[in-house]
Amino acid sequence: MIVRIPRVLDTPALSAIDTLVREASWEDGRATAGFQSAQVKHNLQLAQDSPAARQAGDIIVRALGHHPDFISAALPRHVYPPLFNRYEPGMSFGAHVDNAVRQVPGTHHRLRIDVSVTLFLSAPEDYDGGELVIEDTFGAHAVKLAAGDMVIYPASSLHKVQPVTRGVRGAAFFWVQSMVRDDAARTLLFEMDTAIRELTASSADGGALLRLAGCYHNLLRHWADV
Ligand code: NI
Repeated sequence: MIVRIPRVLDTPALSAIDTLVREASWEDGRATAGFQSAQVKHNLQLAQDSPAARQAGDIIVRALGHHPDFISAALPRHVYPPLFNRYEPGMSFGAHVDNAVRQVPGTHHRLRIDVSVTLFLSAPEDYDGGELVIEDTFGAHAVKLAAGDMVIYPASSLHKVQPVTRGVRGAAFFWVQSMVRDDAARTLLFEMDTAIRELTASSADGGALLRLAGCYHNLLRHWADV
């Protein structure tokens, strides 16, 4: 399931992150790449342990905690600390699948990577190219969103970032270990929760809604690892 989550960051949060990362020192993006993806990764990244990355990451994690669509779609158990990348003209990231397991730097904590997340920090009119292309069984989907918008997609999917030909594309990216590891089960729960929230906002029958909400929670009870 590929889900767009709009307006995760508002303008003050975007400019706070921009101020933090603009003057920071950028390193070769291959620092966090696995063996296969290192061959095709050509971008810049903020050092994971830099104060700028940590502070900017905290702004994002706080914003996520208040975002019902993110919670509903990802059902997060653990969120990997956000990383920041930058693509200048000529930079790209060829097709790859994200690593299955990652250790949180400076800890012994390992995450199973179920969901991949890209949060766009640059306005789309500020650069050409740079689409995130995600493949699923319906083909390839090119994603280029407004600054502050986010896309979440299964970490198991093949994806790439097209070459940037003008301007600079800045983004945050991170991963989630979900309470529900199976993408099909997560999709079903997200569809159901979205319908329940829409019905709740309408004048739907309270008794039927209660039974439906009960089904949602009982499915989650079947599938959740917490
Ligand atoms: Ni990736």
